Amino acid sequence: MVDGAVPSRLGTEAPAGSDEAWSVPAGDRHRPRYHFLPPSNWMNDPNGLVHWKGRYHLFYQHNPFGPHWGNMHWGHAVSDDLVRWDDLPIALAPTPDSPDQDGCFSGCFVDRDGVPTIVYTGVRGREQRPCLATGDDDLVTWTKHPRNPVIPATPPGMALTGFRDHAVWKEGDTWYQIVGAGIEGVGGTALLYRSPDLLSWEYLHPILVGDKGRTDPFWTGTMWECPDLFPLGDKHVLIVSIWDKGGRHTLNYATYFLGTYRDHRFTPEREGILDVGGHFYAPQTTQDAHGRRLMWGWLWEGRDREAVAAAGWAGVMSLPRVLSLRGDGTLGVAPVPELARLRGAHRRWDNLALRPGEMLPLDGVAGDCLEIRAEFAPGEVDAGTVGLAVRRSPDGAEETRVRYERGRLVLDCARSSLDVGVDRDVEEAALMLRADEPLVLTVFLDRSVVEVFANGRVAIADRVYPSRTESLGVGVFAAGGGGRATALDVWQMASIRP
Ligand code: FRU
Repeated sequence: MVDGAVPSRLGTEAPAGSDEAWSVPAGDRHRPRYHFLPPSNWMNDPNGLVHWKGRYHLFYQHNPFGPHWGNMHWGHAVSDDLVRWDDLPIALAPTPDSPDQDGCFSGCFVDRDGVPTIVYTGVRGREQRPCLATGDDDLVTWTKHPRNPVIPATPPGMALTGFRDHAVWKEGDTWYQIVGAGIEGVGGTALLYRSPDLLSWEYLHPILVGDKGRTDPFWTGTMWECPDLFPLGDKHVLIVSIWDKGGRHTLNYATYFLGTYRDHRFTPEREGILDVGGHFYAPQTTQDAHGRRLMWGWLWEGRDREAVAAAGWAGVMSLPRVLSLRGDGTLGVAPVPELARLRGAHRRWDNLALRPGEMLPLDGVAGDCLEIRAEFAPGEVDAGTVGLAVRRSPDGAEETRVRYERGRLVLDCARSSLDVGVDRDVEEAALMLRADEPLVLTVFLDRSVVEVFANGRVAIADRVYPSRTESLGVGVFAAGGGGRATALDVWQMASIRP
């Protein structure tokens, strides 16, 4: 086991004798149908995201030998439209007696003057070092560079808690990269380097340093994983995944800092959590040929090791999200519009008046693979609470609620399952609506995944595992002051797999 490499709540070691490939038993009703996930076994971070020659490539941390973390390889899939994905052969595997003999950890794609290149973390024992691999034009075959690792040692005189995960970019003729790290006794950081050729790197300075003692969740953690830095409008965004070596995994949030990058220094001006759902981690972004900044994050499981072992798979990618800089200087987030291609059967309701305390079941609508879009009249919503109930059993004993109450968007999974062995989180994000602004909720249900987007600026994803097969109902409700759903659309969503 590599020190400092604890990616998830679902343990880091393989159960004894488990290194043979697992297959996914048919009929797991919690396995998503239109979110990306590998054919079987374990997946964590998105890696090497790129829109290359008209196709979207998604690489990911993958254990091909079991549904648990370990044996890190780079899995690979490709898509023409961000919706349907084809699985490709594993892109990177550890090479015995080499700098990545114990794992090919997270990293990024670099277009090295037309040559597809991956910068990833090679793991050997306790050492985590940046390595390069060069790809064929179809990005299927990768050759590791003979000079790996390209940064042979961490900066002298710095006691680090970890040194892994990479974001690389070019300014003029010079390459820059940040590496995720933590400074012993201080907190998480991302270390900035520069290079003329991607092979020899000079250490410059930390681009930003956190404080592990902070109680706010943005700045804390003993190590920052998966850093990403990119321009957005006239600002820059630094994303880091906050990891706490205490091992309690109470943190595990992805933070963004919105600010100014000048003279190789980053000055944050705003900060926030990208997704408060508590299951969204290690996001990575890329800019596509349409100029959009796309982001995926890893959604980890919320059920225990035995349930995961029986299922034969673990980990789902979030839907691709578009990040933007809004007119008021805040970060915008929305699902990619291409997802509409999955829409099938459709029902619509207009002007549903909701009395306080009322739960209105949407007759004729049921499912665990749905997109629901609900618009609530401006102003009225602030008088009380309005929201949607999904995955609801006929008797209401099981349900997951999305509600808006006075400036807060809540994803309430407390009663999402009668099974006490699964996560049942209640998470909330601030959402301040202007007086004339309707509340616009989009909810994607995909079996054990719920992803909620609100008003172009809040995203919350969570995992739910209802115990009853009939927990498929949808309802709309109000509490406190009542409200009005001006428009409510529900679509069945198609599966992207046979
Ligand atoms: C984040 C992470 C990375 C590391 C990878 C290993 O989830 O811990 O820091 O590169 O996962 O799988």
